[in-house]
Amino acid sequence: MDLKQFVTIVPDWPKPGINFKDITTLMDNGDAYRYATDQIVAYARDKQIDLVVGPEARGFIIGCPVAYAHGVGFAPVRKDGKLPRETIKVNYGLEYGSDVLTIHRDAIKPGQRVLITDDLLATGGTIEATIKLVEELGGIVAGIAFLIELTYLDGRKKLEGYDVLTLMEF
Ligand code: PRP
Repeated sequence: MDLKQFVTIVPDWPKPGINFKDITTLMDNGDAYRYATDQIVAYARDKQIDLVVGPEARGFIIGCPVAYAHGVGFAPVRKDGKLPRETIKVNYGLEYGSDVLTIHRDAIKPGQRVLITDDLLATGGTIEATIKLVEELGGIVAGIAFLIELTYLDGRKKLEGYDVLTLMEF
């Protein structure tokens, strides 16, 4: 299946010059969403994963059905102030300024094998921060899966040495 046909390019959103890759038109098509999920489920099959971790908000949409299919749990990475119990935090760079991502301190047990998921690899800042959180808790990053990679932003550079799957490149 050519998944790209289900991604809607929205010109000049959220600001002039940005061609936003809208995955809602992939998600709301049952066949396309299942096909994309199945690719990531298959990718993770030989990785002996114990847990899936994804950053809000779209990392949840990709990761939760994969966790369900593998019969493992899902742990959310969230912006600061959203998780109710003790967290660890990491700062990560944005185009302008920085932000904080958090995970519950007890979300991962040392030695657990983790699949990280998100919709999009752009600069790689979000996933780099997510990796830091997983590894700080003693998790092993068994793989990282995205729907989309924006190759011109070179986010892969931040993921050298990791096992990465992307289903579409723009
Ligand atoms: C988007 C996207 C990725 C991230 C990719 O999330 O869903 O998580 O940006 O960009 P990067 O590789 O340059 O870090 P966003 O921060 O917009 O959060 P949202 O999913 O909650 O809208």
